[in-house]
Amino acid sequence: MAIRHFLSLSDFSSAELRQLILRACELKQQCRNRSMQQTHPGRVLAMIFEKSSTRTRVSFETAMAQLGGHAIFLSPQDSQLGRGEPLADMARVLSQMVDCVMIRTYEHGKLEEFARHSTIPVINGLSDTYHPCQLLADMQTYYEIRGDISGRQVCWLGDGNNMCNSYINAARMFDFTLHIASPADYRPRADILNQSAGKIVVTDDPRAAIQGADLVVTDVWASMGQEQELSMRKQKFRTYQVTQELLALAADNALFMHCLPAHRGEEVTAEVIDGPRSVVWEEAGNRLHTQKALLEFLLCEQNG
Ligand code: CP
Ligand code: NVA
Repeated sequence: MAIRHFLSLSDFSSAELRQLILRACELKQQCRNRSMQQTHPGRVLAMIFEKSSTRTRVSFETAMAQLGGHAIFLSPQDSQLGRGEPLADMARVLSQMVDCVMIRTYEHGKLEEFARHSTIPVINGLSDTYHPCQLLADMQTYYEIRGDISGRQVCWLGDGNNMCNSYINAARMFDFTLHIASPADYRPRADILNQSAGKIVVTDDPRAAIQGADLVVTDVWASMGQEQELSMRKQKFRTYQVTQELLALAADNALFMHCLPAHRGEEVTAEVIDGPRSVVWEEAGNRLHTQKALLEFLLCEQNG
């Protein structure tokens, strides 16, 4: 059987993604009433981080501990990756020792290369192009609070970045309409937009994009690796800040999400992110449950 990877949402079918969300809700319930099952004793996840992380690292590590397994943190500084060992070799070696690998890196192509040489499942823990694990948590959060997102309208404000690209994929997989407002130079790639043709509206007008939205999402204006562009980006994105005034144009019961970490006073005001529409803490917490569901799925597939 072919190894399953999770490099983008498109690696799974809509039905599989929906099943993961339902399973994550069950696992969350088990966590709450302390009836978790250690279903994966002895299974090991290697986590390669070429960029910083709080949520992704802690949620994957906790997920493996709660499943009865173990997670190993690896960074370029303290592994041979930083001394030039080829990714393909690392993939072959880790495939002999652990059951699954999560990678956070820059170029998405590195994940694809690793996956090509891996005989165990590879999970994208964020690349410059996609952040699919975050979308699982966002979709669980919407489902729990408002129900099925199918047919709803989502608004993305700001940079057409990795998170925005994963929202574009999600629009197709979870059947919602996505209105993206970005400055012309910061729009998502045409090939990614085209994959979800018919589901996406792109504009440079934040007021038009947010009108009537059921869910409003934003992210930092400078992603990891773009820090030196921040002052220029602050000027370009100024009018895309999610303010109370802008949010008032969304649907009455609209939710606000942000993958975090957030910069209050840049892409979102403190009033919004700390206000009643914001579900960012539930969203962050759901990283644990969705990733546990994902690990269960990939580890079982590997057994099959
Ligand atoms: N949202 C997210 O992936 O957070 P970290 O960078 O802290 O992992
Ligand atoms: N777009 C952000 C997401 C961080 C979780 C980044 O890539 O830095």
